[in-house]
Amino acid sequence: VSETGCLSIVVLGASGDLAKKKTFPALFNLYRQGFLQSNEVHIFGYARTKISDDDLRNRIRSYLEKGSAKSEEVSEFLQLIKYVSGSYDTEGGFRMLDKEISLHEEFRNSTEGSSRRLFYLALPPSVYPVVCRMIKLCCMNKCGWTRIVVEKPFGKDLDSAEKLSNQIGELFEEPQLYRIDHYLGKELVQNLLVLRFANRFFLPLWNRDNIDNVQIVFREDFGTEGRGGYFDEYGIIRDIIQNHLLQVLCLVAMEKPVSLKPEHIRDEKVKVLQSVMPIKDEEVVLGQYNEVVLGQYHGYRDDSKVPDHSNTPTFASIILRIHNERWEGVPFILKAGKALSSKKADIRVQFKDVPGDIFNCMSSNHAIRILLDHSIRKSMSVKQPGLEMSTVQSELDLSYKQRYHGVTIPDAYERLLLDTIHGDQQHFVRRDELKAAWDIFTPLLHRIDIGELKPISYQQGSRGPAEADELLLRAGYIRTHGY
Ligand code: BG6
Repeated sequence: VSETGCLSIVVLGASGDLAKKKTFPALFNLYRQGFLQSNEVHIFGYARTKISDDDLRNRIRSYLEKGSAKSEEVSEFLQLIKYVSGSYDTEGGFRMLDKEISLHEEFRNSTEGSSRRLFYLALPPSVYPVVCRMIKLCCMNKCGWTRIVVEKPFGKDLDSAEKLSNQIGELFEEPQLYRIDHYLGKELVQNLLVLRFANRFFLPLWNRDNIDNVQIVFREDFGTEGRGGYFDEYGIIRDIIQNHLLQVLCLVAMEKPVSLKPEHIRDEKVKVLQSVMPIKDEEVVLGQYNEVVLGQYHGYRDDSKVPDHSNTPTFASIILRIHNERWEGVPFILKAGKALSSKKADIRVQFKDVPGDIFNCMSSNHAIRILLDHSIRKSMSVKQPGLEMSTVQSELDLSYKQRYHGVTIPDAYERLLLDTIHGDQQHFVRRDELKAAWDIFTPLLHRIDIGELKPISYQQGSRGPAEADELLLRAGYIRTHGY
C-alpha cells in the first residue's frame, strides 16, 4: 500500500459546520507544518450548494486566519482547494468529482500504485450508505488506495449501528474505514498508554487491590446552542458517553497490549467493553438543564428545535462495572453534562487508603488526575513543613504549558487526519468495538427513549442534579482539595 505520491483529499459536506470548523483548519495546519506538500496534494470540497471555488475559499478563510497563520499561507493553501457541487444520492456529481480527481492525478503524473484518495464524510450519518455507494460506483482509485473517514454518531442504538456497519461494510473493507472519535486524537488521551505501561510504579498498583474508584468526566459550561435539533435526537449519552468517555475508559482499564500495533490495542479495548456488566437503574442519574418557574420550563426546552416535552438528557452520571480479575468491584463513573458551572474533561483515579495508617491522616485517599486540557496531577501526603510531625496533602503537578513551553500541541483532528493518510488505524474505532459499545448502552437508551427513565431538572450553570453527587458518594468518591 503506497503512502507516498499524489494525494486527493475529498471533503464531502464541504460547506457544513464540521468541515469549516474542524476539517479544513486541520488540513491547513498539516499543510503549514509540511505534512501536505503542494506538489502532491489536492483538496476537493463537495456539497449540494451551487457555489464557485472562490466562494468556498472565502467561506473557509476566516476559520484559517487564526493564531500565527499568515494570510499568504492561507491564500496558498486555499489555492489547493477545488469545489464540485452535486447531490449525495445521484451519480452525476460523483462522476464529475472523479473526473476532477483524475485530472489532478494525471497532472501529477501518478505512476501506477502511487495515487491516494481520501474521502472525509463531514455529513449526517443518514447519508453515509448512499454516499459510500456513490464513491464505490464512481470514484474508486484504480491505481492506489481509497480510504473513507466517518464521524459519529454511528447509529442510534445497536440495531441501527449494525445496519449502518453492514451497509458500509458491504462496500468497503475494515482497513479502508476510519471511524473518528476525536477524543482518541487528544494528547492526554494518547498519553494514557504511556503513563500506564511505561511507568513501573503504576504497573503493580493499577487494579482493584489499590484503586477505589475511577471517574471520567466531561463538563461544558454552555448548552446545546444552535444544535438543539441534533442534540434532542441523540442526548448526552449518545453524544459523549457511549463514544468519547467509553473510549477513555477502555484505555484506563485495558490490559497491556502485545504491541502498539493497532489490532493489538483494539483487541484489548474490545475485551474491556465485553466485560462491562449491564447497567443498573440505581446507578444512573439523568438530568436536563431546565428550571421550573411557575410551572414552565426554562433552559434546554427554550430551543425552538427542542420539543416542549423532550425527555432527552443533557446530563448523565452512570456507573459501569467491569467484570474481570483486575477491576471487579471498582466503580467506573462516567459523567457528562451540558450547561454546567465549568468546562473540563478529566480522568480521576482514586487510590484506596493506606492500611494501618500511623499518621492519623484524615485524607490519605490519593488520586491521580489527568486533565485533558493538558495537565497531570498526583496528590500525595507529605510532612507538613515545620517542627511538628503532621501530614498535609500536596501534589506533583505536570502542567504541559509550563513544562513543554513553546511546544504546540496538535489538534485532535490534525493527528487523526495524518494517521488516515499514513494508514494507521490505532486511534480509530473498529467495528467490533463499536458494536460492543452499543451493547452496553442500548438497553438504557431504549428505556429513556420510551420515557421509562426521566431526567431530573437542574439549573443552568450548576453542578448538575444533586442526586449525581449522592451517586458519587455511594460509589466511594471522596472529595479532596482540587481533586
Ligand atoms: C462532540 C460533541 O463530539 O464533542 C459535542 O458532539 C461536544 O457536543 C464536543 O461539545 C466536545 O469536544 P471537546 O474536544 O471540546 O471536548
